[in-house]
Amino acid sequence: MEGIQKPQGSVVIIGAGTQGRRLAHMWSSRGGTVRLVDLQEQQLQDGLKYVEQLRADATDHDGDWGQIETSQPSSLQSTLQDAWLVVECVPENLQLKRKLITQLDKLAPEGTIIASNSSSYGIFEIIEGMNLKNSKRVMSAHCSIEIMGHKDSDPKLIDLVLGQCKEHGFSPFHVKQDSIGYIYNRIWAAIKRETLLTLSEGVATPKEIDAIFKDVLKTPKGPCEQMDVVGLDVVLDIENHYAETRSGIPTEPREYLREMIQGGTLRFGWFFCIIGLVVEFVVAIDEARVRFTDDAHLFFGFCRWNPQTR
Ligand SMILES: NC(=O)c1ccc[n+]([C@@H]2O[C@H](COP(=O)([O-])OP(=O)(O)OC[C@H]3O[C@@H](n4cnc5c(N)ncnc54)[C@H](O)[C@@H]3O)[C@@H](O)[C@H]2O)c1
Repeated sequence: MEGIQKPQGSVVIIGAGTQGRRLAHMWSSRGGTVRLVDLQEQQLQDGLKYVEQLRADATDHDGDWGQIETSQPSSLQSTLQDAWLVVECVPENLQLKRKLITQLDKLAPEGTIIASNSSSYGIFEIIEGMNLKNSKRVMSAHCSIEIMGHKDSDPKLIDLVLGQCKEHGFSPFHVKQDSIGYIYNRIWAAIKRETLLTLSEGVATPKEIDAIFKDVLKTPKGPCEQMDVVGLDVVLDIENHYAETRSGIPTEPREYLREMIQGGTLRFGWFFCIIGLVVEFVVAIDEARVRFTDDAHLFFGFCRWNPQTR
């Protein structure tokens, strides 16, 4: 980024869970210091181990890894003192995120950029109605890839974060307007929605949809297999969030999901697994019946002496 100075100081990541530890690894990969904060000491220790493992596995790195220091939220003010960027990475709970952003706005030095890693709440939703000291420095940085400001964000700070994300090995994109679902997740939501609608109309089976999708787009997984990675309950939560905030979202995909979940199916794969087991069981019973009628003695004789069948 021309005209923008390289920032000095550390990156503070609040929350050492699944995503926080990944970010700690990336943001320390160019020699800079990362300060990892979590309420739970175990999460901090597990996070450090996770990063150590990634570093040990890295084959094309120059060895200039930055330090990762851990601390508790009770010392947040001092942890933030040299931070150029702080990323909140606590669980996806709007009230928790609002509380933390308020705290960061109060405690972080004036020059510290404050970012949220939330996957479903845009920064414009998180700070809505809040009276922040300096809202210009607040933004969304979803996975440090989708960078989205709000109506008062300072564009120079957005550029700075985009540039630094790139420097640290991410491939960042600027989300230029308030957007629930950022860029990628909106497109992905449309694919999931249409997949579920197609299924609800009985047009094709999950297996067929995955097969045609993979054939045409050459992706390793189809949409049903991808939905299985997070679980259908999470897919429904996400779709509910879109439906609450946008008009024109069809109801059928959500109804279809609700029925699947109420029927105890959280993954299309399980559905097939269960169907497969039922088919195998019926075939086995049928084979046994045939044996029983046609070769009963042999069948019972076999049962008597083979310990594995008892
Ligand atoms: N998991 C993913 O793959 C993923 C991907 C993209 C975005 N995200 C987003 O990242 C955020 C974090 O998700 P995650 O999956 O890492 O969650 P997680 O539950 O794995 O980790 C959250 C961590 O935050 C800690 N924590 C909770 N309250 C805290 C507080 N007040 N102060 C300090 N630490 C606190 C918890 O102890 C926990 O270690 C969410 O907003 C999520 O939407 C996650």
